[in-house]
Amino acid sequence: MWDGGDAYERYVGRWSRPVAAEFLRWLDVPPGRTWLDVGCGTGALTETVLAEAHPAAVVGVDPSAAFLALARQRVPGAEFEVGTAVDLGDRTADVVVSGLVLTFVPDVARAVAEFARVAPYVGSYLWDYRSGMQMMRLFWDAAKDVDPGAESQDEGLRFADVSDPDPLRALWTGAGLKDVEVTGIVVPTVFRDFADFWEPFEGGTGAAPAYAATLPAEQRAEIRELLRSRLPQQGPIELTARAWAVRGVR
Ligand SMILES: C[S@@+](CC[C@H](N)C(=O)[O-])C[C@H]1O[C@@H](n2cnc3c(N)ncnc32)[C@H](O)[C@@H]1O
Repeated sequence: MWDGGDAYERYVGRWSRPVAAEFLRWLDVPPGRTWLDVGCGTGALTETVLAEAHPAAVVGVDPSAAFLALARQRVPGAEFEVGTAVDLGDRTADVVVSGLVLTFVPDVARAVAEFARVAPYVGSYLWDYRSGMQMMRLFWDAAKDVDPGAESQDEGLRFADVSDPDPLRALWTGAGLKDVEVTGIVVPTVFRDFADFWEPFEGGTGAAPAYAATLPAEQRAEIRELLRSRLPQQGPIELTARAWAVRGVR
């Protein structure tokens, strides 16, 4: 699911970047700190830490070698290492951040405990898959109208136990973090036209595109046409995406 760095950029990397910038403003970390970006992928958040937070050093960690290769090209100022959220080894930092990752980690409580072990300040964000990430919500609603099997794949249902304010607060508190706060970050997601909206769903990278790739071509086309009928027929398609962000101190 995570091998196509370019496909990921077109699908959701382009929208995660503005969320990363808003998130860092909200975290409000002073300059000169060391940062660890867990699940850094193609480096959207890592790059934004370098650009906005005046860090002393930034290390990005991700299990996908393909994503790290792209991140190294795109973000020369950071170090990138293969690794996983549930075992950060002997790394330490002033701040651990993790953008759009925890829904993909099987043992999420262990991951957050690991974040709190290696850094005194821990922040993260996840898409509001249930409703506020409109691009994905629209896709899954159309997919479920075409394919009853899509229900079990819908990220809004699969990730409901993590990607909502209450579960996020409980995870941070459960890891022993204090002063825990959760906020919603909303960014515009404006598509040039329907092709710009749809084509990334054909790219195979990310949960919804990976699901779409398992369907016969006719069913994929049915979802596409249903979505086309539900979106503006002319001009740009102006949607928004909400992420839930959480922060806490050790
Ligand atoms: C949706 S991407 C987010 C990438 C990046 N943080 C961003 O904001 O664009 C999810 C990332 O989580 C990574 N990932 C999946 N399982 C992981 C795990 N167990 N530990 C750390 N990262 C993981 C994937 O390789 C992928 O890069």
